[in-house]
Amino acid sequence: MNCLSPSILSCDFTRLGSEISAIDSAGAQYVHIDVMDGHFVPNISLGIPVVKSIRNITDRLLDVHLMIDDPEKYIDAFAKAGADIITIHAEATNHLDRAIEIIHEAKCVAGVALNPATPVSSIKYVLPKIDMVLLMSVNPGFGGQKFIPYTFDKLRDLNALIEEAGVDPDIEIDGGVNLNNAKALLDSGANILVAGSAVFSDDDEIEDNVRAFLELME
Ligand code: DX5
Ligand code: ZN
Repeated sequence: MNCLSPSILSCDFTRLGSEISAIDSAGAQYVHIDVMDGHFVPNISLGIPVVKSIRNITDRLLDVHLMIDDPEKYIDAFAKAGADIITIHAEATNHLDRAIEIIHEAKCVAGVALNPATPVSSIKYVLPKIDMVLLMSVNPGFGGQKFIPYTFDKLRDLNALIEEAGVDPDIEIDGGVNLNNAKALLDSGANILVAGSAVFSDDDEIEDNVRAFLELME
């Protein structure tokens, strides 16, 4: 199934509750929550208490994207705060296999993210343990950046790897996704699209933006 995961990094945080209600009532299936530590990425965003508050106002799947070093230290805390999907970066841990197991032990869906420069072959051996692969289509850390075109080459390589392994993980694309490239990404094998600035551009347009994405994702 194709799903839209609006990234609240681009929302107006003084209106977090109402903007989440807007994406929820317009039909977005996930809420994408970008957690940044100022080490793994050059920015600092939000953390566990915010996830907990969001859990209280929506039943949509909370898609928590950890852009933090040593993510295994915090998996339990994010799971307890209400995360449904926990995605960690392959580059952020020395023990990716163990970290995936910790996510599953916490009863969450396990995602593994790859920075643009990281080859998909780096997850070849853990692919059967992964529920979702997130390909970063910008360098992580900020919303509103330009989509990196070689993401399509990575999607092709990832599809080949998935076929060879005989598995069927979700494929999420994150960064620079908009109404112009969404269809091509789905046609290339992605099924979950993250969109931050393309959804939260203007408080009055959030629901229309979500509906426009969902229409072309059907
Ligand atoms: C970037 C984040 C993204 C970001 C996407 O590090 O992981 O989720 O919010 O924002 P847009 O859609 O504006 O590129
Ligand atoms: Zn993200």
